[in-house]
Amino acid sequence: MMTTPFQPGILEEIPAAGCFLFADLFDVQQWDKLRPVLEQLIDGHGIVLGVGSKLLKALGKAPEGMQEFPALQHPAAKRRDYDLWFWLRAEDPGAIHHLLRMLLNATEEFITVKVQYQAFRYQEGRDLSGYVDGTENPTGAKAEAAAFVKSSDQAQNGASLVTVQPWVHELDYFKSLPQNEQDDAIGRRLADNEEFEDSPASAHVKRTAQESFDPESFMLRRSMPWTDHRNEAGLVFISFVDDFAKFNRMFERMLGLEDGIEDGLFSFSMPLFGINFWCPPVTENGRINLQFLRD
Ligand code: HEM
Repeated sequence: MMTTPFQPGILEEIPAAGCFLFADLFDVQQWDKLRPVLEQLIDGHGIVLGVGSKLLKALGKAPEGMQEFPALQHPAAKRRDYDLWFWLRAEDPGAIHHLLRMLLNATEEFITVKVQYQAFRYQEGRDLSGYVDGTENPTGAKAEAAAFVKSSDQAQNGASLVTVQPWVHELDYFKSLPQNEQDDAIGRRLADNEEFEDSPASAHVKRTAQESFDPESFMLRRSMPWTDHRNEAGLVFISFVDDFAKFNRMFERMLGLEDGIEDGLFSFSMPLFGINFWCPPVTENGRINLQFLRD
């Protein structure tokens, strides 16, 4: 029997293959018809579900901690709004295709997919720049504490707050830089993944050091590399938190809003947009728990 109330795919390792869908309802009045379809289909393992502010507002629901992606006057902080987010997870692209077919066939009357990213695990979990991503992720009980909302309301306990931010990389440029300049952008050495002391203040891991924030800001990152048919490529950055303030203060520091120093990542990469979703808990039967979004 299922004992954990959160969507298990959030805590599990990053899968070999993935697909991210951002979708809108044709008609929000249809939610009561779509909801049981999702309740039957979504287990939080093969497909992780997030619900966006646009739909929540239309339904008049305000889950604990839910906020929109911050409105910042900065070209790297463009915000978008979609009703639903689906993260399809599997161990090979064929299985993703079957999951996708199943999901689209079951929901085609109700939703239209606006944006889709095909994603994958690169080597043992590297960004396409070559750097290992996720080294400082909390694990076990610390990951649960960082990523899931604790609530006395059964319909909200175990929910998670996710920020999704697709970034596009300029890899030809980045890979043309001397190795030490690439390492300086990240603050870790490509060769051995070691953090080095004399990295510049702009180094990504200095900007984002989780224990350097007040309060400390631990998050569970589950980012996956993506590519498309035009050979564009990058990282779909994903962080699950119990409090969006953690992401917000970290991203503001990356943008240099604190001290004018921009994160080294911006030398070769740019977020296309950012968006927040509420990821509901699951029921004891291991199905998505949409109780909170009923009348
Ligand atoms: C193109 C986008 C990004 C890339 C390629 C990237 C890559 C990396 C890499 C290679 C590391 C070092 C290894 C690790 O601990 O995971 C790292 C660390 C980290 N990144 Fe990013 N990252 C990106 C965006 C972001 C964003 C938008 C945030 C949050 C606002 C973020 C938060 C973090 C955190 C919290 C750490 C660990 C810092 C620590 O405590 O040592 N990253 N990232």
